[in-house]
Formats: sequence, structure tokens, C-alpha cells
Amino acid sequence: MKISILTLFPEMFTGPLTESIIKRAREKKLVEIEFCNIRDFGIGKHKAVDDKPFGGGTGMVMRVDVLDKAIKNVRQNGLNKFQEKCVLLDARGKVFMQSVSKSFSKLEHLILVCGHYEGVDERVRSLVDDVVSIGDFIITGGEIPAMIIVDSVVRLIPGVLKENATSYESFSLAGFDEKKNLEYPQYTLPRDYNSLSVPNVLLSGNHKEIENWKKEQSILITKKHRPDLLENIKD
Ligand SMILES: C[S@@+](CC[C@H](N)C(=O)[O-])C[C@H]1O[C@@H](n2cnc3c(N)ncnc32)[C@H](O)[C@@H]1O
Repeated sequence: MKISILTLFPEMFTGPLTESIIKRAREKKLVEIEFCNIRDFGIGKHKAVDDKPFGGGTGMVMRVDVLDKAIKNVRQNGLNKFQEKCVLLDARGKVFMQSVSKSFSKLEHLILVCGHYEGVDERVRSLVDDVVSIGDFIITGGEIPAMIIVDSVVRLIPGVLKENATSYESFSLAGFDEKKNLEYPQYTLPRDYNSLSVPNVLLSGNHKEIENWKKEQSILITKKHRPDLLENIKD
């Protein structure tokens, strides 16, 4: 899979996309991540990428002509909408969830467009295939949302993690009962810490009982913390 990130600040990605699981996935060539600096497509000798909003208002708006050139530069000829998706990061978009991540992980090419300043010219929406938000709050730019999406998508690419490692994670539909349950509690050493002990069943060696306990706990925790997940299982 290839991921292209269109940004004015490519240096921001050093660290989140150069360490740990993503670093190994890139080394194993399971994912190729390229950066396209939107500034390279700026206008005039100052490479302007934004301007004041028509009609007045605070801040600067990113130009549609600049973003159009940048997007065209990374789009791959011949890929259809099931293989390539260009996604604008924007608070107005559909909220990013595990199901969206899963669908993105099946693409050959994912293009992420990071807005900045006051956001992008309205017409940019007509240049992209999808608009995605990471939640109902505003942050400074699309770079951190892009990092979150890349991290979430890359771990779902086959071969990146051990087989089945993501099946029982929270929000995964492939879990115990095909519902988007939260994950069951996990413990490691020490067995006793102050007055806190590991549940006996996990030390019993009885795989069937352990499996039943995990399923039960997963459902209980979901009912307690996120009952809405049990209602909206199609999301
Ligand atoms: C300061 S924000 C612009 C906010 C815009 N004026 C609004 O009210 O929706 C600049 C950029 O950050 C990104 N951004 C901010 N919040 C976001 C969110 N919740 N999800 C995805 N991207 C976000 C978008 O790319 C946006 O263009």
C-alpha cells in the first residue's frame, strides 16, 4: 500500500511515522509513505498557498488551485475509486472509526490532504473522494489527524502485526460475537501488586474458561463504558 500525505509541514511527521510498528512496516515495504509539500505548488515567487477569505473573516484560507495541483501530482493514473482514495482532513467530515480505517487499509493508494490556518477553500471538497474528521474538536492542522489515520491504517495491513493480533481489539467487528465490543482486561507480572491481584481464571491454564471469561468481560466492559457501540454495530 502507498500513502501520500499532502502537507505544508512534512517535518512534523518525523517521530510518529519513523518509529515502532510504522517504521518496521516501512522497512518491510508493506507500506510506502510519501510526503508532498504543498508549498512546492505555491503561486509566484513567494510560493503563496493561502489568501484572505472573500467577504471578510479572520485568518487565511488555503487556495483551491494550489491544492488541485498538489493532488493531481500524487494521484496515480489508472487506479479507480476502490483502489485510490483522496481524503481531506476536516472537522466537517465523517468521524474516523475502526470501520473506516479497515476500509482504507484495503486501498492501494491513500492520499491525505492536511488543511492548515483557517482551513481550505470550499471548492477543495470537489477535488477529493472523502472528508474525514477525527472528532468534534478543532486542532491547528490536519497533520496530527493524518498521523492518527496512518497509524491506525498501517497496523491493519496484512503482515504488519502478527496474524489475528487486531481481531479482538476494541472496536473490531471480528471479535467474539461480531459486535464492536471493547477489549477484555489484560494483566501481566506481578501476580499480586499491593492488594491488587490477577483474576484466578487467567492463571488456571483452562483455555476454555479463559476464553469464556474474556468474552464475558469484553461484553460487560462495553455495556458499562460504551453501550452505544452495541446499538450501532453497522458503523
Ligand atoms: C484550525 S483548523 C480550521 C478549522 C475551521 N475553521 C473550522 O471551523 O472547521 C485547520 C485545519 O486543521 C484540520 N483539522 C482541525 N480539526 C480537525 C478535526 N477535528 N479533524 C480533522 N481535521 C481537523 C483541518 O485540516 C483544518 O483545515
